[in-house]
Amino acid sequence: MKITIVGSGYVGLVTGACFSEVGIDVVCVDVDKKKIDNLNNGIIPIYEPGLEKMITRNMEKNRLSFSTSLADSISDSEVVFISVGTPPDEDGSADLKHVLAVARECGRTMDDYKLIVTKSTVPVGTSIKVKNAVQEELNKRKLDIPFDVASNPEFLKEGAAIDDFMKPDRIVVGTESERAEKLLNKLYKPFTLNGHPIIFMDIVSAEMTKYAANAMLATKISFINDIANLCEVVGADINNVRKGIGSDSRIGTKFIYPGIGYGGSCFPKDVQALIRTASENKYELQVLKAVEAVNTSQKLVLFNKINSHFKGDLRGKTIAVWGLSFKPQTDDMREAPSLQIIKELLAAGATVNAYDPVAAEEAKHHFGDTINYCEEQYEALIGADCLAVLTEWSEFKIPNFKIMKHLLNEAVVFDGRNIYDKEEMHNLGYQYSCIGVKT
Ligand code: UGA
Repeated sequence: MKITIVGSGYVGLVTGACFSEVGIDVVCVDVDKKKIDNLNNGIIPIYEPGLEKMITRNMEKNRLSFSTSLADSISDSEVVFISVGTPPDEDGSADLKHVLAVARECGRTMDDYKLIVTKSTVPVGTSIKVKNAVQEELNKRKLDIPFDVASNPEFLKEGAAIDDFMKPDRIVVGTESERAEKLLNKLYKPFTLNGHPIIFMDIVSAEMTKYAANAMLATKISFINDIANLCEVVGADINNVRKGIGSDSRIGTKFIYPGIGYGGSCFPKDVQALIRTASENKYELQVLKAVEAVNTSQKLVLFNKINSHFKGDLRGKTIAVWGLSFKPQTDDMREAPSLQIIKELLAAGATVNAYDPVAAEEAKHHFGDTINYCEEQYEALIGADCLAVLTEWSEFKIPNFKIMKHLLNEAVVFDGRNIYDKEEMHNLGYQYSCIGVKT
């Protein structure tokens, strides 16, 4: 079986690599010639654990290849996945021009039946637009070639994407024909054999499922952050409260870790998109609006703590920052809370010494030379007046607190991810502040 995946970004590459891993012939297509040239030379444009090895392995076995031409690969591929980007346009709604351009190119180049599957996260109703775009091109060619469209949203977490694809909690597929359902069932068989479910539904529900899932997860985070802030005020400890509520299986232990707000390329964008879809349909998603508002203010909670520790005057202070990416195991800086926090620190006149295991290069696109990039975590502490932990990378979890105390001007730690223990920090002589625990 041969398939084509258009868009060799994060989702396209992971999808392509994983399908080839189970023996399917995959061509990954992208308009970016430099990216394709690099991929053909084994240079992977993103950091994702396990991806580089998987791509190299499958290229060597000739099951995975990269090309700039959809026209060249479409004739042999019965299934075409669209996984191109949908960046927000000026008014914040998803820009579908790349998705629809791929749809039109399918219509221009296909000569027999194709199943065109949307994998990009697209607003509810997009698959119908894809269908119309393909049909228009076929009409121009005066051809009557059968085709189907389907929606197959992805639920990959950055940093764990390979595992999520190989062992999915579920695969969601929206189709409107039996032929399409059979094809996708066959394609996903290697991933469902061990009991991982594949759920078939109508196309609009599949599109909606993607947004509802991310909206629910974002809601859990904003809820726990809101409760954490209240815990601090009333003198409760969110770490205890989290365990106390999480042991109720209806609530669950996952995704209720307080922090400095959710970031990344998905939650912020998808929450906004769903609010927009609702208002376009004259409905107001009140809960989700609150989720977004809480997240916006949560991104400033740690800055406010630092600022009040220094009595509102950060001029001449040096802040060591550990972690820049929006979460561990990725170099992704999109919507990272660090962007907001560092921006505020700099505006208040502080100097920032930052260390991140992988995101420094990405961070340079945002901060340029306005902050100091450190090669190593302890280097960031030299001469700093406090440490702020912004991403919970494993290597920050059990640091050498003695050396840290020696390097810092003052033994002060602001922990935005609750990775240290308050008692222990106090016993070691630190002034310690985290999220949702009274100091
Ligand atoms: C998210 C979803 O988890 C995936 O299922 C989905 O496929 C993906 O978006 C997408 O739409 O493509 P991702 O953005 O990679 O994946 O990141 P998550 O691991 O979900 O984390 C999102 C944010 O929530 C991070 O900023 C993280 O720090 C924060 N978070 C997460 C918390 O603050 N507390 C938690 O308990 C969990």
